[in-house]
Amino acid sequence: MKIDVLLGLQWGDEGKGKVVDVLTPGYNVIARFQGGPNAGHSLEFENRKQILHTIPSGIFHSEKINIIGNGVVIDPVIFEEEIKDLKNHGLNPQKNLSISKRAHLILPTHRILDAASEKAKGKTKIGSTLKGIGPTYMDKTGRNGLRIGDISQSDFNNKYDFLKKKHISLLSQYDYSYKEELNKLEKLWFDSIELVKQFQIIDSEYLINQYLNNNKSVLAEGAQGTLLDIDFGSYPYVTSSNTVCAGACTGLGVPPGKIGEVYGIFKAYCTRVGSGPFPTELDDQTGKDLRKKGKEFGATTGRPRRCGWLDLVALKYSIMLNGVTQLIMTKADVLTGFEIIKICTSYKENTETTTTHFPFQIESGMIPVYKKFKGWSENISQIENYDTLPGELKQYIDYIENEVKVPIKIVSVGPDRKTTIFR
Ligand code: GDP
Ligand code: IMO
Ligand code: MG
Repeated sequence: MKIDVLLGLQWGDEGKGKVVDVLTPGYNVIARFQGGPNAGHSLEFENRKQILHTIPSGIFHSEKINIIGNGVVIDPVIFEEEIKDLKNHGLNPQKNLSISKRAHLILPTHRILDAASEKAKGKTKIGSTLKGIGPTYMDKTGRNGLRIGDISQSDFNNKYDFLKKKHISLLSQYDYSYKEELNKLEKLWFDSIELVKQFQIIDSEYLINQYLNNNKSVLAEGAQGTLLDIDFGSYPYVTSSNTVCAGACTGLGVPPGKIGEVYGIFKAYCTRVGSGPFPTELDDQTGKDLRKKGKEFGATTGRPRRCGWLDLVALKYSIMLNGVTQLIMTKADVLTGFEIIKICTSYKENTETTTTHFPFQIESGMIPVYKKFKGWSENISQIENYDTLPGELKQYIDYIENEVKVPIKIVSVGPDRKTTIFR
């Protein structure tokens, strides 16, 4: 059996949580492969809204196995909050959730370093979620990190103190007072470590490969999106992990030849939260309308998301990098009521030339060239059959499919699990 991968094709928040939850009944195992509590994956079902940060979005199906892979970074405090929330809803995640020994730990000082670095950057800040993601991955690649498997070792506290000392020396370079925050966070952190210990801490690379060899189906769940990838995103305004499909190989320990379907998920328009270039961003009333109708506020930080039209240049780039085999389009319902809908087909570099090449650096003078589409006004959130969708929406979908040469197999028309149309 091969492993299927679901990942975001834009700047995150494409609706990965919802769709993983919808697809979970068809899989035995759901595994997160990168990112950490910078992610906010929302699920809605039975009049309930849940947001997951570290835990895979298959967790609400109690008979399914959920794995936090080695590529993920974990803040025990946020993990404990998530577990408490799940328990309050009657779940027992200790039964069906396990964690890779090789996943790295976010220390309280990683969070503080993230905040200090962002403050020092001023106007050029990344707009990080302040969860300590960047500093934690820096320690991972710098070979200084602490891993989940270290928790049970006798020298864990020494290792912690050693790394904390290094961080404190780094913090002395910043004008940032942190002592009170550190004392508070540190106590919570060590308390939460005790909870982490109660979970199955495993060599997840062995388990996942065993599952695949035994014909069990596995779905890998990505976080963030391709345009936030550390190598291919709009650097430096990116996250610190590989969000592309290759990240599933390194983040779970599966060979490239074992990748099966690659589900690429995108919104029918575009959003971005945090700093960095966004060619199709709309600063006008249409942008505000998209934010209002799409309830575009960050699931992790609550920040308003920047909104704009769909960007086909970027979408094609993402599809290429990931080898997407099936597309999933979400939030089609949000476009209902717009008289004109636009898709960016190229960028105008200057008065003479346009490009369909996603550039090394997106310059502020780059102007999107749009193709216009007629909108529709019917409410589509109750529609279950693709054929009964408004003709204008089907034309919009046909156009995208023709351009990107990958079929759109799922159209999501609302946040609830049930509002999902399969083709
Ligand atoms: P993720 O990070 O990719 O899991 O996405 P988020 O959960 O951060 O953001 C997606 C938001 O859109 C959440 O509030 C979802 O409940 C919501 N959502 C997902 N799919 C749809 C859809 O088809 N229509 C509408 N209106 N909302 C959706
Ligand atoms: P999900 O999984 C949207 C953005 C932050 C910031 C940049 C770097 O919910 O789609 P970081 O905290 O990773 O150092 O922040 O990346 N970002 C996200 N934006 N969705 C996410 O995750 C994101 N995770 C990080 O806003 O611009
Ligand atoms: Mg999100």
